[in-house]
Amino acid sequence: MINDLWYKNAVVYCLSVETFMDSNGDGIGDFQGLQRRLDYLAGLGVTAIWLMPFQASPGRDDGYDVSDYYNVDPRYGTLGDFVEFTHGAKQRGIRVLIDLVVNHTSDEHPWFKEARADKTSKYRDWYVWSRTKPKNASEGMVFPGVQKSTWTRDTHSGEYYFHRFYDFQPDLNTANPLVQAEILKIMGFWIQLGVSGFRMDAVPFVIAEKGADVKKPKEYFDMLRAFREFLQWRKGDSIILAEANVVPRENMQYFGHDGERLQMMFNFHVNQSLFYALASADTRPLARAMRDTEKLPRTGQWGVFLRNHDELDLGRLSKNEREAVFSAFGPDEDMQLYDRGIRRRLAPMLGGDIRRLKLAYSLMYSLPGTPVLRYGDEIGMGDDLSLPERNCARTPMQWSNEPQGGFTKGQKPVLPLISQGPYGYENVNVAFQRRDSDSMLNWTERMIRMRKEAPEIGWGTCTVIDCQDPGVLIMRYEWRENVVVIIHNFHDKPVEISFSLNNKGNPGMLIDILDGHDSQATGTYEHHIVLEPYGFRWYRAGGLDYLLKRSEV
Ligand code: GLC
Ligand code: CA
Repeated sequence: MINDLWYKNAVVYCLSVETFMDSNGDGIGDFQGLQRRLDYLAGLGVTAIWLMPFQASPGRDDGYDVSDYYNVDPRYGTLGDFVEFTHGAKQRGIRVLIDLVVNHTSDEHPWFKEARADKTSKYRDWYVWSRTKPKNASEGMVFPGVQKSTWTRDTHSGEYYFHRFYDFQPDLNTANPLVQAEILKIMGFWIQLGVSGFRMDAVPFVIAEKGADVKKPKEYFDMLRAFREFLQWRKGDSIILAEANVVPRENMQYFGHDGERLQMMFNFHVNQSLFYALASADTRPLARAMRDTEKLPRTGQWGVFLRNHDELDLGRLSKNEREAVFSAFGPDEDMQLYDRGIRRRLAPMLGGDIRRLKLAYSLMYSLPGTPVLRYGDEIGMGDDLSLPERNCARTPMQWSNEPQGGFTKGQKPVLPLISQGPYGYENVNVAFQRRDSDSMLNWTERMIRMRKEAPEIGWGTCTVIDCQDPGVLIMRYEWRENVVVIIHNFHDKPVEISFSLNNKGNPGMLIDILDGHDSQATGTYEHHIVLEPYGFRWYRAGGLDYLLKRSEV
């Protein structure tokens, strides 16, 4: 079981081929470049790579507008290069997940071109049409402020087509059985080329009822079961990791009560209250979010993240909480996006304070679930707010202090490198940090090792232990008689805390698995600990030799 459910104790690294490494000097990252960096990723210790969209695309939404699901965009290489890459990853024990963007296609996809050119085309019903402009056309936009409507008139056929996202992303009619069959075919294709599963884009919209008269869309959850069953027939250990920012009471609908639907979902709920905790040193909403998302089927798992390629969406916080996060981490208008979020990278959000960054990442590695880090996080990369919308946090990877950060030998990178200033590639890059034993990079490598060696976090049950101070979060994990205790201080000042674990049969010794700060309980099983400002501890109860106790089945 432990080895079969590989995603329970994985460390996922998300990257975009386009901005990771350019091998041929045209300024665009490619699969051959990525291939050359596989040993870097293996050295970091990640066990899975999530590739953002790389299929053929006009690239108007960073590849989330696909025009051919069965091909690599020629700018990134060929299908041959892709298979070399998945093979190379496999040789190093790294799995590959890829984005599956099937809520919509690009308006340049041949299906849409045919559908709009000819009302009798077999592809007409692959999209969602209305003869007249629906009343709710100006509701439900995902990109308010940039996107004007969810229905746009198609000049060819004179009818309106539905698009949940930008107008160049017509929604697929996912209720159409032929579309569903095509989605399976797409999954089957990439599975055959060596991937271990999919990060499925915009899942609530994929399964939502779509149409001009739909007021309160029903959700077709059974579709998820069909996806999962198909995947398991084709390749038993492949998974779907859903992007679904939904309220906790809906979670089990996505996982399925017996785990018959999706294996993983990103925990957007915990993500938002985690940022509130970082902003306010109040961990109570975070503890609540953890409780609200505690229930999972046995095979289910959360994806835990800090920042991703999109804006930090704060839409589910209360107004006061949201304002606290905006004022701490994104006070200026150009740091904010779509009336609900912050578009910056984490390092500048936290003012480059290494103590706070480590606190945040230590949390990401230790909250219930599987951590998903984003390329560049391991060196503390910054953002470029002069770039539009979410592009500010999608700049090329900073490998060295060579021109263009070592990302390309060419003159014109696909997006400008961050240069000059505290986050410029001249200062922040892999080559420098590799030589510095105190660097963020080497610290990250160590944290990833710790996370993998603490399977209690991925597998066990988590309880938040009370310590009277809302600025301190104590998590106690238990799995197969092993206990791991993880403590984070959100205050900018040192704190002294007391807590009790009440471990049956536990000698009361907590061994620090990161540093040398062991803690011996008093006769009444109380621990007294002093934490530095933004300090944290990872403890194992009993002794270090947990591996002896751990059984492998
Ligand atoms: C998801 C992606 C986002 C993209 C959108 C439309 O939200 O994360 O980047 O723009 O879907 O595909
Ligand atoms: Ca290239």
